[in-house]
Formats: sequence, structure tokens, C-alpha cells
Amino acid sequence: MRFDVITMFPELFEPFTKESLLKRAQAKGILSVEAHNLRKWTKDKHRVVDAKPYGGGLGMVMKIEPIFKAVQSLKSKIPKSKVILFTPRGKKFTQQKAHAWAKLDQLIFICGRYEGVDERAAKHIADEEISIGDYVLMGGEVAAMAAIETVSRLIPGVIGKETFLKERKQKTGFLEYPQYTRPEVFRTWQVPKVLLSGNHKKIEEWKKKHGRLIGRK
Ligand code: ADE
Repeated sequence: MRFDVITMFPELFEPFTKESLLKRAQAKGILSVEAHNLRKWTKDKHRVVDAKPYGGGLGMVMKIEPIFKAVQSLKSKIPKSKVILFTPRGKKFTQQKAHAWAKLDQLIFICGRYEGVDERAAKHIADEEISIGDYVLMGGEVAAMAAIETVSRLIPGVIGKETFLKERKQKTGFLEYPQYTRPEVFRTWQVPKVLLSGNHKKIEEWKKKHGRLIGRK
């Protein structure tokens, strides 16, 4: 899987791509995460990527030409490639969506900033408009990072094999239950006795009772 992120702030992705699991997966050649500076696709002296909105209004709007050129140059010839525009008005990102994306070869993420992106990007360039939740971020960068983490851990070899297989087996969502580790008692806070009992049947029942299904269809 190849993640290509188009952004005005590629430096935000530097520490992120060096995080241990992503770093290891990249070293193993399982995936790559590249953040590209949108200004690279401008020709003017000031490398302008935004302008005032037609019809007036507050703030600036990201221009269409650099975005178009960026996508054109990054899009590989392989068919399993998708272009995503992150915006707060997009369709909600879900675990189910992450599973679908994990089957692709390339994801191109366009990170909007400022008051918006020229509407023609949504209409003619992006395959999907995606939001990570009903709130407004400064831009799409954090949304892109959330998607990269979520999709990456569904790619074989990125996270531990056991967790991976367990999650994949449960297509209708997997159980996320409370976890505890040493010590058994901290202050007066006790680890549930059943988890220390060694009774696997009881433990499984407890996990089912206290767990929450994540990513249910
Ligand atoms: N850009 C600004 N807010 C966003 C959100 N909630 N999701 C995706 N992109 C965004």
C-alpha cells in the first residue's frame, strides 16, 4: 500500500511516519507514506496555492490547478488507487471503510486547509469526500493521519499477527474489552478477580459482557 498525502504542511507528517509500527512497516516494504508539499505543483514566484473566493466571502480557497497537477503526477497506473478529499462535510470514515481501503494499492489523500477547497476538486478530482467526525479541524492533515493509522493496521504484517487475525476473523466487528496489567492492586483499585482466576471459560464470558463491538457493519 502506498499513501500519498497532498498537503501544505508536509512537515507535520515527519514524526508521524517515523512512529515505530509505521516505520517498521515501511522498512519491511509493506507500505509507504509520503507527504508531498502542494506548493511543488505551482509555477509562480510566490508558490501560491490559495486565492480569494469568487462571489466574495471570508478567508481563502485552495486553488484547483496545483491539486489537479499533484494528483495527476502521483496517481500510479495501477487501477486499485483512490483519491480522497478530507473535508468536514464528507461521508463519515468508519472501520468498515478502512477495511475496503486496505485492499487498495494506493490512496491519495488531499488535505484541505483554510475556508475550503475549490469545489471542482470534490466534483472532478476526488473519488470520495471523507470526514473523520462531526467537528471542524484546521485542515485535513490530522484526518489523513487517522486514516493512515486505521488502514495500516489492517494490512498484513503491520501489527502483531495474533491481533490482526483475531480482528479479521470477526467480520461483523471485534470485541474491545477492558485490559489490565500488573500490579493486581494499585491504591485500592483492584483488577477484576475473574481475570486472575485462570478459568478461561469465565474469562471469555467476562470479556463478552464487558466488551464493546468496534467496527460493526
Ligand atoms: N477537515 C476539517 N475538519 C475535518 C474533519 N472533521 N474530517 C476530515 N477533514 C476535515
